[in-house]
Amino acid sequence: MKIIHDPILLRESVKQIKQKAQEIAFIPTMGNLHNGHLALIKEGQKVADITIVSIFVNPMQFNNKADLINYPITLKADYEKLMLAGVDIIFVPSVDVIYPHGLETQTYIEVPMLSNCLEGKLRPGHFRGMSTIVAKLFNLIQPDYACFGEKDFQQLAIIKQMVKDLAMPINIISVPIVRADNGLALSSRNSKLNESEQNIAPLLARVMHDLGEQLPSKRLNYQALIVEASKALEEGGFKPDSIDIVDAKTLQTLHNKSNKAVILMAAFLGNTRLIDNKVVNL
Ligand code: PAF
Repeated sequence: MKIIHDPILLRESVKQIKQKAQEIAFIPTMGNLHNGHLALIKEGQKVADITIVSIFVNPMQFNNKADLINYPITLKADYEKLMLAGVDIIFVPSVDVIYPHGLETQTYIEVPMLSNCLEGKLRPGHFRGMSTIVAKLFNLIQPDYACFGEKDFQQLAIIKQMVKDLAMPINIISVPIVRADNGLALSSRNSKLNESEQNIAPLLARVMHDLGEQLPSKRLNYQALIVEASKALEEGGFKPDSIDIVDAKTLQTLHNKSNKAVILMAAFLGNTRLIDNKVVNL
């Protein structure tokens, strides 16, 4: 396994891989790896000859400074996990190398419509920063495949749209949410929960599941379900941040012809914001 920090060396390795006509699967991460990331890597290894994982905590996608400062960095443990997983190359650039002129004047990618709603409204600039770094990493790595988790539903939709709109020759592989036995969706943020919060956390998935069961019979009249879910979360110890039900394809308001809805939930447990989602056939 090669660990590369310098984009020039990365390009050289990519060139050699391409000369051998080998295909690359790319898995972008911000580190603090868990089984959810390992599931992405497994999917990449199924389809390509070489897997490249990036670890970069991207300042451009953090609208909250405290969140960036507190983001867990666990490089040594991450390297060990990636070695065991059989990853070929890890790309770990510094912020200066990625943004040599700073963030203010950085050229950016914006995927309108899909970025300005839902999570994008609550976290201004987040999806712009996310799309920009992913596009930049795609340019450096030129992967044939890139794997993204369905847990970040809106992120995945934005990446698919960006690749389509900009004619990037990359197959986006979406990988289902990996859950703990108690139903909690795996996330780097879970490591920040204290013991009592860890006991409460699975409630988010249970409330979402219950909402999902009732949704097909209510279809467009789902407002009462949202109120009920919010109440159940509050009673359980969460501070709900957002609960949305939208068309799973457009991420816009459900309409008569929508055949799939997605429930998107975000709620705080203490200072930790957890998210989850569920696609429901209508
Ligand atoms: O999902 C993440 O971890 C990040 O948003 C990503 C895709 C690595 C971009 O920084």
